[in-house]
Amino acid sequence: MIEQMQPWIGEEERWAMDAYLSSDGRLTEHTKTAEFENAIADYVGSKYCIVTTSGTTALYLALVACGIGCGDKVLVPAFTQTATAGAVELAGARPVLADVAAENLCLDLATIKIGVNIRAIMLVTLNGRSPDMAIAREIADRLHIPLIEDAAQSLGSRWNGQCLGTFGNVGCYSFSSPKVITTGQGGAIITDDPDIADRARHLKAFGTDDRDQWFGVNFKFTDLQAVIGIEQMKKLAWRVTRKREMFLRYREQLADVPGVEFLHTDLTQTAPWFIDILVPDPDDLRAYLHTQGIGTRLFYQPLRRGFANANYAAAHGLWLPSSSFLDDRQIEQVCDVIRGYYTL
Ligand SMILES: Cc1ncc(COP(=O)(O)O)c(C=O)c1O
Repeated sequence: MIEQMQPWIGEEERWAMDAYLSSDGRLTEHTKTAEFENAIADYVGSKYCIVTTSGTTALYLALVACGIGCGDKVLVPAFTQTATAGAVELAGARPVLADVAAENLCLDLATIKIGVNIRAIMLVTLNGRSPDMAIAREIADRLHIPLIEDAAQSLGSRWNGQCLGTFGNVGCYSFSSPKVITTGQGGAIITDDPDIADRARHLKAFGTDDRDQWFGVNFKFTDLQAVIGIEQMKKLAWRVTRKREMFLRYREQLADVPGVEFLHTDLTQTAPWFIDILVPDPDDLRAYLHTQGIGTRLFYQPLRRGFANANYAAAHGLWLPSSSFLDDRQIEQVCDVIRGYYTL
């Protein structure tokens, strides 16, 4: 079976974990976590990085650290992983949905009207693609509201040479097991704003400081995860290159197959996390590929119906096998089976 996505842990992670377990490490977040945070901040070029238990809690902390709370309206794309809107609800705020642009499946910036009553924009850079981030920044600045980047799927992808996640007042990544690098579960917040960094760091650790306080939650990381994350970060540059090569191979080999379409993808900037195609019949193709030992995933359903591009993507999208360790022969095999399905 070629699965749609599997994590990739190698000897380096095993050795590092072995060495760590033989030391008197604290297991919970400590020096290894700080080292992992520094590696992320250095890679993406941000001043601060705070790791947390998941991409979902990273989004939640980002919202609260930006002062978003009870009853505030937050603009969210109708096509995204449910945690984007879930984090908004968790913060007590209200997701206000807007359609995505057909060309990149990210929030359609043209739908944001000046004077609109929203307190933050949650911009999801889906699968490493993005809209014009300078325009996104300009809109948020004009509305005097924070831009929060849900870059859960975009670590290693860029716009205009700059890492996605760094255009917002705050950006969030996920390290769940299907992501380009993983710590099993995990997430990170990056920001250049010392106040946001301070609040997020404070909030994720019971909110404790010298003040009297009654509310505290625990979204701390562990050094166990950080040991794996540090090794995974060393592999990120290679994986970014490989993801681009994989996408290119799929695109070249499926170019002549009727009905299979690819989204426009600038591979100098985007490192597609998942290989995505649009087809007339994703359910049937998925079922056929399954009989041939090939795993796929259907696109997300829209968070609510009634958005043309979100509906179209959900009705036509399929994610093909995308593990970084797939070799060219396996990609060719998948493409041959798809070609056979549409042409024989
Ligand atoms: C766009 C997006 N946002 C948020 C999340 C949530 O991240 P996590 O699974 O780490 O909580 C994901 C995870 O897949 C995602 O793809």
